[in-house]
Amino acid sequence: MSDNLLDIKDLNIFFKSDKNPEPIHAVRDLSFSLKQGEMLGVVGESGSGKSITNLALMGILGDSAVITAKECKFNGHDLLNLKEKELQKIRGGEIAMIFQDPMTALNPFLTVEFQIVETILAHLNISKSEAKNRAIELLAQVGITSPKERLKSYPFELSGGMAQRVMIAMAISTGPKLLIADEPTTALDVTIQKQILTLIKSLQEKNNMSVILVTHDLGVVSEFSERVQVMYAGELVETGLTKDLIKNPHHPYTYGLLSSRPGAVERAPKSPLASIAGIVPAFHQRPVGCQFNPRCEAVQADCKIGNIKIDNGVRCLHPMKGALK
Ligand SMILES: Nc1ncnc2c1ncn2[C@@H]1O[C@H](COP(=O)(O)OP(=O)(O)OP(=O)(O)O)[C@@H](O)[C@H]1O
Ligand code: SF4
Ligand SMILES: [Mg+2]
Repeated sequence: MSDNLLDIKDLNIFFKSDKNPEPIHAVRDLSFSLKQGEMLGVVGESGSGKSITNLALMGILGDSAVITAKECKFNGHDLLNLKEKELQKIRGGEIAMIFQDPMTALNPFLTVEFQIVETILAHLNISKSEAKNRAIELLAQVGITSPKERLKSYPFELSGGMAQRVMIAMAISTGPKLLIADEPTTALDVTIQKQILTLIKSLQEKNNMSVILVTHDLGVVSEFSERVQVMYAGELVETGLTKDLIKNPHHPYTYGLLSSRPGAVERAPKSPLASIAGIVPAFHQRPVGCQFNPRCEAVQADCKIGNIKIDNGVRCLHPMKGALK
């Protein structure tokens, strides 16, 4: 038996719609695993399937989604075949999630106290006054000053950074084994971003919690997560230890992503940053063969035939060998 907390094998997500007779194939054959206490960074182009993968794991993707997998195991549970009641216990209990915009995730009409205490009571068998004390402890733990007074606040009385700290307090209130943080700092000021990520990292280490951190920022990944996976057009295209992948990307898409960072490659003074030409193909225009082939500078004839399998952490027939700075 695997000692991983999460084991995903060949996860596929389709969306049915009245407009298209064929369902949209949004995530293809995604396999990955996560150990207890490990942080996994997930990066990739907008629309590549990062969020829907997480929503599928939480069981909150909606009725239009069809999810299949050879394996979708979390802490011994088969996530795709749980009864709604069991799933509810895991969702928000053993797996918690924080989103991009804390202001829209919090209910504007309810106090911080009501929202945290309600979450705790839904998952833990403790009294209301114990739950309130736990809420105060949690707010202190996520760095909110005067936590007792803050419990009385409504979300509009909080800054963005404070609201995200409240969301994190709610997320960790049930002692989750896995925290999914989907771009948790995108809506925040640059100065607050680092504080929030440092807080998540310290909670991961202190609570031996696993974290899936979705971000557009490769700098964040290299600073905070041990392993990274890169998604493109619904597929995992490269995965590995962050320190190796950042220095030595093998997939041309990863290479393009990394070389568009300031200082990554030599360039003439004042010349523009490198960028990847073209856009991700729409679902109905997905190419045959490698999904990246219409944009790839290293494309060859064999890239346009059949399905390209992931091999040694890279989904590419002609992986790159050049190291970045
Ligand atoms: N309910 C739905 N019905 C049809 N398509 C959907 C549905 N939800 C998501 N999609 C599509 O699935 C694809 C993947 O979406 P997802 O939100 O996971 O992207 P993402 O990688 O998180 O992007 P971003 O970086 O912009 O957050 C997108 O093309 C999106 O339009
Ligand atoms: S398989 Fe071919 S087209 Fe796809 S990324 Fe590799 S070299 Fe480029
Ligand atoms: Mg997303």
